[in-house]
Amino acid sequence: MSDHVTIIEVGPRDGLQNEKTPIPTSAKIEFIRELSSAGLREIEATSFVSPKWVPQLGDAAELWPKLPRGPLYSALVPNMRGLDRALELGVDRIAVFTAASEDFVHKNINMSIAESLVVFDEMIQRFRANSPRGFVRGYVSTIVECPFAGRISPEQVAKVVDSLMALGVDEISLGDTVGVAVPREVRAVMSNVAHVPKAKVAWHFHDTRGTAIANVETALEAGYRRFDSSAAGLGGCPYAPGAGGNLATDDLVYFAERSGLSTGINLRALSGASLPILEALGRAPGSRVQQAVLSQSPVP
Ligand code: HMG
Ligand code: MG
Repeated sequence: MSDHVTIIEVGPRDGLQNEKTPIPTSAKIEFIRELSSAGLREIEATSFVSPKWVPQLGDAAELWPKLPRGPLYSALVPNMRGLDRALELGVDRIAVFTAASEDFVHKNINMSIAESLVVFDEMIQRFRANSPRGFVRGYVSTIVECPFAGRISPEQVAKVVDSLMALGVDEISLGDTVGVAVPREVRAVMSNVAHVPKAKVAWHFHDTRGTAIANVETALEAGYRRFDSSAAGLGGCPYAPGAGGNLATDDLVYFAERSGLSTGINLRALSGASLPILEALGRAPGSRVQQAVLSQSPVP
């Protein structure tokens, strides 16, 4: 089993999308440059969604051509309009997003689950025709609980996962959108998606209740090696009331490295990468590991 953990940094997208304070495009670029310097190789940079729905990421078209070279960049696309905008800019890694909860999909993208799958089918076909070597991620949100519908069954999660796999996505990201999950619930989801190759699954934990690292350990023990996280634990979904920040990349790197796994990320550089954004938001570092590193506690 690989001893390397791949981190997909979602800070510039998931981390910022919910923030009311407008962050200038230049500050986002600097943030991404610092994340890249810290060693992050896969970064979800922005979303080509409606700027009426997510004003913070309305600068996606301006940001994309200025991204520093190096990492693999991806962007969220909700519909054909978003795909066309992305293709015009040469985006070759896209993420479509639906959920296991009907209510959440409706609130988030104004579609039913079935409608979202029909839209994604057409989008993926067009994307493949334009970008034959491109990469498609399929998000499944609310894998344990929905802020509107309550508990979600693991069988329902598996149904949506299978539908996305049938559309030919390259990877599934399983999202505990509101950050409620505990290991027992993660294991229940795992046993229902065990037929999907582990290399094609990423786990996307929010850390609202401080359970994200326990869930990461559960996934690591089962052999999963791909995780989404956000520098400093920035984040939340504007259409999921109660969703706290993402699992902090700082916490994930510390936990993985200290557990004997490699991430390729320099923790000290990472801890500094989010500081200008935190300052712009008027917020102190939220990750305990980041606080420890910044206060110059010895880093193992
Ligand atoms: P709608 O209002 O039903 O769509 O929204 P519409 O077709 O009626 O369009 C409304 C307006 O938006 C129109 O403009 C369109 O042209 C425009 P108007 O005619 O009024 O001037 N429009 C667009 N503009 C730019 N790019 C586009 C686009 N599409 C329409 N792509 C829509 C439907 C899907 C657009 C909307 O619901 C939307 O953008 N939703 C995105 C919400 C979002 O980004 N949520 C957060 C990401 S998901 C998440 O955070 C969870 C995740 O992290 C995993 C986890 O934690 O579980 C991934
Ligand atoms: Mg999220």
